[in-house]
Amino acid sequence: MKHIYQKGTKENAPTLLLLHGTGGDERDLLPLADMIAPGASVLSVKGNVSENGMPRFFARLAEGVFDEEDLVFRTKELKDFIDHSAGEYGFDRDQVVAIGYSNGANIAGSMIYHHEDSLAGAILFHAMVPRRGVEIPALEKLPVFIGAGTVDPIIPKPETEELVRNLRESGADVTDYWTSGGHELRRDEVEEASRWFHDHFVK
Ligand code: MLT
Repeated sequence: MKHIYQKGTKENAPTLLLLHGTGGDERDLLPLADMIAPGASVLSVKGNVSENGMPRFFARLAEGVFDEEDLVFRTKELKDFIDHSAGEYGFDRDQVVAIGYSNGANIAGSMIYHHEDSLAGAILFHAMVPRRGVEIPALEKLPVFIGAGTVDPIIPKPETEELVRNLRESGADVTDYWTSGGHELRRDEVEEASRWFHDHFVK
């Protein structure tokens, strides 16, 4: 997968897996990583699917309607890519924390739903329920931060609440933070995510 790897200066920090939104690329979230966890190593990936020229991490049939077969295939592809990259770049595979926005948050959520121990934590900005009707693995206090907008036109509030509930019921340690906004990423949720990251991952 097309990507950028940047080795950080903080040896003990987890590696950040950056996953952009629809139409973005592997450069998009680099400034965000710097705001949330300066000095951490970064693996920033570009989605392999193109929707009319807009990069994404998996195909969709319509807005908010995922192509489940492709979602499952692409989720495994991304997980395998992280496994491979850990060997290539020499980072600790067990210490990978995803930061995803929108479509990128959805594939991070899908990794959590489908592959046990694929992430050590996740910051999901404006994420949907990635899939229904599957058994989520035991998440054993997996730290998850969810940033959401109360008037997000793409993700109705009950859907975010369902995601929070699903993850908590599977054992994750979920922190949800709500802005008064819509689907856009707001400064206050990024600052809150940074505080959360330091509480959970900086020793
Ligand atoms: C998705 O398709 O992942 C969601 O609708 C979010 C988006 O990319 O707009």
